[in-house]
Amino acid sequence: MPSPEKAPNKGTDFITNALTAPVSQSEAALRPLSFADFAGQPKTVERLKVMVGAAKRRGEPLNHILLSGPPGLGKTTLAFILGHELGRNVRVTSGPVIEKAGDLAGLLTNMEEGDILFIDEIHRIPKTVEEYLYSAMEDFRLDIMIDQGPNARSVRLSIPKFTLVGATTRSGLLTAPLRSRFTLNTRLDYYERTTLEGIVRRSCGLLTVELDTGGAQEIARRARGTPRIANNLVNFVRDYASEKAQGKITQPVAAAALELLEIDAAGLDEMDKRVLRLMAENYKGGPVGLGTIAIAVGEEADTLEEVHEPFLIQEGYLARTSQGRVLTAKGYHAIGLKAATGDQQSLL
Ligand SMILES: Nc1ncnc2c1ncn2[C@@H]1O[C@H](COP(=O)(O)OP(=O)(O)OP(=O)(O)O)[C@@H](O)[C@H]1O
Ligand SMILES: [Mg+2]
Repeated sequence: MPSPEKAPNKGTDFITNALTAPVSQSEAALRPLSFADFAGQPKTVERLKVMVGAAKRRGEPLNHILLSGPPGLGKTTLAFILGHELGRNVRVTSGPVIEKAGDLAGLLTNMEEGDILFIDEIHRIPKTVEEYLYSAMEDFRLDIMIDQGPNARSVRLSIPKFTLVGATTRSGLLTAPLRSRFTLNTRLDYYERTTLEGIVRRSCGLLTVELDTGGAQEIARRARGTPRIANNLVNFVRDYASEKAQGKITQPVAAAALELLEIDAAGLDEMDKRVLRLMAENYKGGPVGLGTIAIAVGEEADTLEEVHEPFLIQEGYLARTSQGRVLTAKGYHAIGLKAATGDQQSLL
């Protein structure tokens, strides 16, 4: 019997799982370590290279950087690349882990000048801690209150000139004062198919798996513009190939393996389809609120908003309006339906 508090769909969906599970060892092994190994994101990479070059030339710490964008596109990877390119340590933490000012003080006072503090999910940092971060970022000091009541007093701590690299999947949730303290705020976009093909080839090379052009194209096409999904698919297709096709990844082998995962030719999975079908069949194409969709498909609203929706919107299956989500003609088409007259999409 499943326990009552367990969400029924949790962890059963390959794509959700790939994008929400903690980074596995096999994934870390595929992580590029330098700009030279990092494919795609030309604008972001160019901006970062300029800042790294200037910081090195001046012999000063790098300015603070905010990396935003959907999960699995390379934010954490880039934070480590920055450390590597600068020859500095990278300390990793995440927004919800820093519960109080003392946690932040502990992290910052233990750093050396020029080191990088990487705060993942920085939009989830508690508001009370966020205010301490302002003076830490700007003036490299922390005014911490110690003791309570009549003995309460503030102690000023100097901290080494560090670099804050923040990552967020939801830059809209960041407060304006925090956002404005980053010198660079750069957004990662979904990858081009040809770039993903290159990433698939590189990963297969590192894993010493045989792969032909058709195989690389098939995996890249279904990877939702996301390197982490591409690498997860590579791992699965590699297993499939070794069980069923003497280890070689070709187009038919990749297609059959991904069929088994219920990821279609456009990279849509069962959860995506469930969302689209629900909107078409129960809500005449919308507009329908995210909370309603989440309950009906049995997924958390946050997961839908961070993992599924950005891709569906980017590819034009869904649109966001002030009244809610609306299915487009392409969305109907993806589930084999035609928009009925009177459905919302005809207004788009
Ligand atoms: N440009 C790239 N070239 C090659 N591989 C990449 C690239 N970007 C990311 N990857 C691969 O994708 C994986 C996921 O990237 P990463 O963990 O940096 O994503 P993320 O943006 O931090 O995601 P999240 O928001 O879920 O933390 C990495 O382990 C790495 O192997
Ligand atoms: Mg990350």
